[in-house]
Amino acid sequence: MSIHIGAEPGDIAERVLMPGDPLRAKWIAETYLDDAKCYTQVRGMYGFTGRWQGVDVSVQGSGMGMPSASIYAHELINDYGVKTLIRVGSCGALADELQLRDVIAASGASTDSNMNRARFDGLIDYAPVADFGLLRTAVETAEQRGIPMRVGPILAADAFYTDRPDLYDALANYGVLAVEMESAALYTIAARFRARALTLLTVSDHIKRGEQTTSQEREQTFGQMVEIALDTAIA
Ligand code: ADE
Repeated sequence: MSIHIGAEPGDIAERVLMPGDPLRAKWIAETYLDDAKCYTQVRGMYGFTGRWQGVDVSVQGSGMGMPSASIYAHELINDYGVKTLIRVGSCGALADELQLRDVIAASGASTDSNMNRARFDGLIDYAPVADFGLLRTAVETAEQRGIPMRVGPILAADAFYTDRPDLYDALANYGVLAVEMESAALYTIAARFRARALTLLTVSDHIKRGEQTTSQEREQTFGQMVEIALDTAIA
């Protein structure tokens, strides 16, 4: 096993969906995958491998925030040979035109995290971006399934609760669609170790309008996003 994942080599598929919530990983595995088997319960951060349309796919919880997501992305790629990572998560909308439950594909992720500043000695503001091939496939898949999907940049924030909503307004003025807490790290680590990564998100709340989805609504749209992610992962 690796330090944080209790799996043997070969237990994890080359294609992995990564929800933040480990119980979402369980739900995805039980709802969508054939013959799903749990390969890790370390720290309650469940991981499962099963088959989607005959192809091996794993689902691994990443936890919340970039330090946690970094650990799982790093070990999946370096200790288990994972090549494709698709985050499936929720986000708070910043753009006025977005509605609750909309699906977003994150083309790039600005961040207030210091992780990449430390990585590049404070000299470079690295721009974490999605894998273009995965992004293109996700767009095609969403079109085929008739699911409207917005593509654009997001913010990966360190803090869920902010004292600076004015900065969110400023980012919205620069076309940033929404805020979540993992993708800048995911995109950076995938790039560093030559894997492919993409984040798909559903809007769970609207920051400016103060709107929120119910847990039942979240489950329904989460399902549409997961279907796009699974089709994209095996394409
Ligand atoms: N994920 C879902 N909603 C969020 C928000 N408002 N801020 C950060 N991450 C989120």
